[in-house]
Amino acid sequence: MTTDAQLTRLGLFDARVPRYTSYPTAPQFGTSIGPGDFTSWIEAVPEGSQISLYLHVPFCRRLCWFCACRTQGTSSDDPVIAYAQTLKAEIAMLARHLPRGVTLSRLHWGGGTPTMLPPDEMRALADAVFAVAPLAEGGEFSVEIDPNEVDDARLDALVASGMNRASIGVQDFDLEIQKTIGRDQTYEITREIAEKIRARGVNSLNCDLLYGLPHQTNARIADSVQKLLTLSPDRVALYGYAHVPWMSRRQQMIPSDAMPTPEERLRLFETASKLFLWDGYEEIGIDHFARPDDGLAVALKAGKLRRNFQGYTDDTASALIGLGASSISRFPQGFAQHASGTSEYTKAIRSGQFPTHRGHAFAGEDLLRARIIEALMCDFRVDRRELVRDYGVTPGYVDQMFRDAASGFEDMLKIEDGVLIIPDRAKPLTRMVARVFDAYDQSKAQHSAAI
Ligand SMILES: C[S@@+](CC[C@H](N)C(=O)[O-])C[C@H]1O[C@@H](n2cnc3c(N)ncnc32)[C@H](O)[C@@H]1O
Ligand code: SF4
Repeated sequence: MTTDAQLTRLGLFDARVPRYTSYPTAPQFGTSIGPGDFTSWIEAVPEGSQISLYLHVPFCRRLCWFCACRTQGTSSDDPVIAYAQTLKAEIAMLARHLPRGVTLSRLHWGGGTPTMLPPDEMRALADAVFAVAPLAEGGEFSVEIDPNEVDDARLDALVASGMNRASIGVQDFDLEIQKTIGRDQTYEITREIAEKIRARGVNSLNCDLLYGLPHQTNARIADSVQKLLTLSPDRVALYGYAHVPWMSRRQQMIPSDAMPTPEERLRLFETASKLFLWDGYEEIGIDHFARPDDGLAVALKAGKLRRNFQGYTDDTASALIGLGASSISRFPQGFAQHASGTSEYTKAIRSGQFPTHRGHAFAGEDLLRARIIEALMCDFRVDRRELVRDYGVTPGYVDQMFRDAASGFEDMLKIEDGVLIIPDRAKPLTRMVARVFDAYDQSKAQHSAAI
């Protein structure tokens, strides 16, 4: 039997398997977590410690058809400016609860398109954040930048505010693909923005590329990767395009019959992956590539790579606080998510309440299972010794978990000296393997019944 046939049969191409940027995953959050939990979890952050902060800006000038992010289109700056005022009010609320001396190991602005903010608003927002918690020494301030929605004045404002990492959305350089996914963006404009970012002293550049797009072929993705390599990004996120038109209505504009087959998707990933590896990049987890001296590659080698809502990270802060509509926070105690709609979010902040409306408090085996899933997604292996040491379980219990997991994947997984290993040929199954340890996912019962 070919590896392809075996991978297919084992469920590789099940598009509905989570990407496990958290455990439990956001759809499993319940309504028992509210503003009171969010507030008390902020108050429990140790004085003088480092945290991560995420600010969500859910606006875009254009709405790309392929995009599954929570965002809304606006041609006017007014709603964005009004939203920035609300964010500043929320930052002031955070200041009232955050213990003294806290600094930021990471500040990330994501969206949507944070570069929708006018330059003055960018400066005011950054000032408001740093007045509450300054960037720690060696801290990183990163911003998601849409090359079509940024100019010199906004780049100057970001750099003057301390941005030292930038992430630009590329997706694909092929013009026919861009037309089909509703995102026009020439190579020239992408290159111009990348050069402008670098010229301002921002040395760390991430680019997002997608595989599995309509009309994408191996030759086309190879061409896009080669063009991307001319920009010398430090990191690349090579995400599998999630085509979920039943959830994201804009995607109904994309013809389903132009989509590559699951086997073709795998070839597209492999084609792009080989080119990055040949060019000296290192493979990070399931969908990232990084230069050997980049923080992610260094963390991977040191066994310190982590996974959070932004994907892979080398951040070690124990709390990640998210502000803004739909943002998610992670504390040692659990997850808290804000209301998604900007009007609901604004209403709560105006009434002096955090808009937390969903979440999850860790209990039972949550942290044990979260660590197993994170280790598999980051390192493709998980060591029984670490679990016994950190989570108070017995070696026998972990061994049984590993054996049960491996039994669902024929000869694909290995267990060696108490370590569950996903070998190279089984790597495309990683999310499926992670799902076996997900106690909340009901669909895996159907999966096991199907194989
Ligand atoms: C918030 S957007 C990027 C920032 C900015 N708005 C831009 O477009 O350049 C974050 C990234 O999510 C990824 N993304 C969006 N929709 C996706 C989908 N349906 N499947 C996979 N990745 C997706 C894209 O690679 C995109 O660059
Ligand atoms: S890809 Fe970026 S610009 Fe396009 S809709 Fe999504 S968030 Fe907005």
